[in-house]
Amino acid sequence: MKNVQESQTTYTELMIPSYANFGGKVHGGIILAIMDKVAYVCAAKHSGSYVVTVAVEGVEFLSPVEVGDLITVKASVNYVGKTSMIIGMRVEAFNPRTGQSTHTNSCYFTMVAKNDDGSLKDVPGLILNSSLELRRFCEGKWLRENARHKKETLKGDLLHFSDDELSKTLIEENCILNNLLF
Ligand SMILES: CC(C)(COP(=O)(O)OP(=O)(O)OC[C@H]1O[C@@H](n2cnc3c(N)ncnc32)[C@H](O)[C@@H]1OP(=O)(O)O)[C@@H](O)C(=O)NCCC(=O)NCCS
Repeated sequence: MKNVQESQTTYTELMIPSYANFGGKVHGGIILAIMDKVAYVCAAKHSGSYVVTVAVEGVEFLSPVEVGDLITVKASVNYVGKTSMIIGMRVEAFNPRTGQSTHTNSCYFTMVAKNDDGSLKDVPGLILNSSLELRRFCEGKWLRENARHKKETLKGDLLHFSDDELSKTLIEENCILNNLLF
């Protein structure tokens, strides 16, 4: 069993011009890549092993990040299963000239621990020391159950419906049904 604090990770990086898109703002993919690295560090510290990213939930860019901003990513283990860990991430952009800090993104990375031979590895449990940690753990449990349900829906559920049944659910949608060829 481990405390949340043992793996909590904070990382800050300067947003340089090569990170920008044609609109002059930082690419969302750059932020995601930084978050992935921080999630790795946090999960590797908790599990004491090599980890891989399995899924990312709840990514939403709330406001743009500017070149020259300092991005700070805070990560902590919110939930652990047998071999998986849900890492809660919070991203803030700090403008050093104005002193203004903006919350730009929060989301959840599911990471799985692996042994050297690639097999799944059991991870230590979590000692919950506060009401916040209890709440985050329960939230993670819900996310995991939801992920399972989503996976089943995407993989199988829609196969049981005919084209006709599915097309009736699209009346309000922004699409037209052309002659289906298969
Ligand atoms: C993810 C992976 C480990 C699942 O393998 P599997 O044999 O299907 O194993 P399981 O179904 O037992 O899942 C293992 C754990 O991952 C969790 N998991 C699997 N798919 C998940 C998903 N879509 N969302 C959240 N958690 C998921 C399971 O709940 C389980 O957690 P637990 O052990 O804590 O109960 C495997 O598909 C894999 O290695 N994928 C590649 C990951 C990778 O390389 N990432 C880097 C991409 S470049």
